[in-house]
Amino acid sequence: MAKLWICLLLELCSMLDTINGYYNERRLRCLYSSRDLSDMVYTDSYIFNKVEYIWFNSTVGKFQGYTRHGIHNAEYFNNDTAYIQRDRAAVDDFCKHNAQIYYTAIIDKTVEPQVEVKSVKQSHGSQPAVLMCSAYSFYPKLIKVTWMRNEKEVKGGQTSTEEMADGDWYYQIHSHLEYMPESGEQISCVVEHASFKQPMEYKWDPSASAPDKSKIAIGASGLVLGIVLSAAGFIYYKKKSSAPY
Ligand SMILES: *[C@@H]1O[C@H](CO)[C@@H](O)[C@H](O)[C@H]1NC(C)=O
Ligand SMILES: *[C@@H]1O[C@H](CO)[C@@H](O)[C@H](O)[C@H]1NC(C)=O
Repeated sequence: MAKLWICLLLELCSMLDTINGYYNERRLRCLYSSRDLSDMVYTDSYIFNKVEYIWFNSTVGKFQGYTRHGIHNAEYFNNDTAYIQRDRAAVDDFCKHNAQIYYTAIIDKTVEPQVEVKSVKQSHGSQPAVLMCSAYSFYPKLIKVTWMRNEKEVKGGQTSTEEMADGDWYYQIHSHLEYMPESGEQISCVVEHASFKQPMEYKWDPSASAPDKSKIAIGASGLVLGIVLSAAGFIYYKKKSSAPY
């Protein structure tokens, strides 16, 4: 006969009797999908050898039993005013209370990553091209970076660094994609992070890679502006110096 383990504490506990192969488990769950926690459901299950024989669901508000033993004990628990009240209150003071703590401690403190896709190496003959997708200054650490090629997830060819601590509570990560370019294709980097409501796609723009077109444009406009200003200054100086007193 296996030893019987009774869980009295409001926590997950289980016992495994490996010699006889009996497995008893008590499982408490807080289930919800809405940010305001309004659809929170608390369940308290007693499971023996994979059979869930007593079950509390906060929507129903009482224990339900399966198997003869389970039905008897569910009735016994329902008669226990203190126990049933504690389980009825758990949806608020255990589930919502803890979920709110997790939100304020983790989810509400998320910081979106700054993402940039750039070329590391251009393709030469049979040499593949290499792109790098970098995500900077995000929190928390957990992040997923994948690549898409013509709307399909790229399998193989990518390597990623670990999430690296910036030393200021934020993290960065870099993912490389090695590939043979084809004309007309579309490549993008997809980032999934707790700060986003949905995965974010960052398109690779090959025209931006042509080294620093924008910097050349800024430099050129600076030069033109410089010439115009010095010409204006020169004309002003000439006019001024030739003006009669
Ligand atoms: C809780 O009970 C309600 C009513 O029977 C049911 O609709 C719901 O699916 C149950 N929730 C869970 C998590 O089992
Ligand atoms: C639960 O309470 C009812 C009514 O007081 C009683 O008839 C029944 O025997 C009790 N059940 C258990 C399992 O204690």
